[in-house]
Amino acid sequence: MIIAPSLLAANHAHFGKDAVRADRAGAEWLHLDIMDGHFVPNLSFGPQAVKAIRPLTKMFFDVHLMCSKPEILLEPFARAGADEMIIHVELGDQVEPLIWQIRKLEKKVGLAVNPPTPIALVQPFLEKIDLLLVMTVNPGFGGQSFIHECLPKIQQAEAWRRERKLQYRIEVDGGINNQTAAECARAGADTFVAGTSLFGQRSLKGAVAKMRKIVNANDPALADLKV
Ligand code: DX5
Ligand code: ZN
Repeated sequence: MIIAPSLLAANHAHFGKDAVRADRAGAEWLHLDIMDGHFVPNLSFGPQAVKAIRPLTKMFFDVHLMCSKPEILLEPFARAGADEMIIHVELGDQVEPLIWQIRKLEKKVGLAVNPPTPIALVQPFLEKIDLLLVMTVNPGFGGQSFIHECLPKIQQAEAWRRERKLQYRIEVDGGINNQTAAECARAGADTFVAGTSLFGQRSLKGAVAKMRKIVNANDPALADLKV
């Protein structure tokens, strides 16, 4: 179970300080939301910000590209210190070449699926990815409410992983708090992106520890062991 605080919810006047706080809070991953004002109706930050944060922490950098033309950004983000780059399945014909481009850069490959997009669209790529991101809000903004209709997609992703003996992680992103993280864990998620619910707390360390405890307690694999 991995907790990935989303820097989008940090104070944009001091990303570095908040990234270090996330590290000291015990989070293994840092989720970096890249928005282009086209694929989503918002802008966030670019490779220069990621490059500036990179020397401050050893956390795994999970770069979520909500962008219409990720092909022009993959190399800059790879050079800036991304460990993984997530592209969206909604890009259609571009998905396959983008996956190869990320592999060529020797980075982990993530594939994201938006709430209105059928989960079946990710099926042809499951053998080629390290992580499947099931979006649980429509991307573009932090602080939105979790969309419960996305839970069956997590169950489907978990069923495919089990049936095909694959290893990809199942990540959830959007409206994740202690309650919805527990629901996602029970459905099969193992990687939890959370912005508002973590950075909004006075003690980030306490918030990460609590979320970790809750998702571990709801891990179906551990429940099997208890039986
Ligand atoms: C949404 C982004 C998320 C966002 C989540 O477009 O992909 O990563 O930071 O924020 P919260 O946890 O506040 O919903
Ligand atoms: Zn994200």
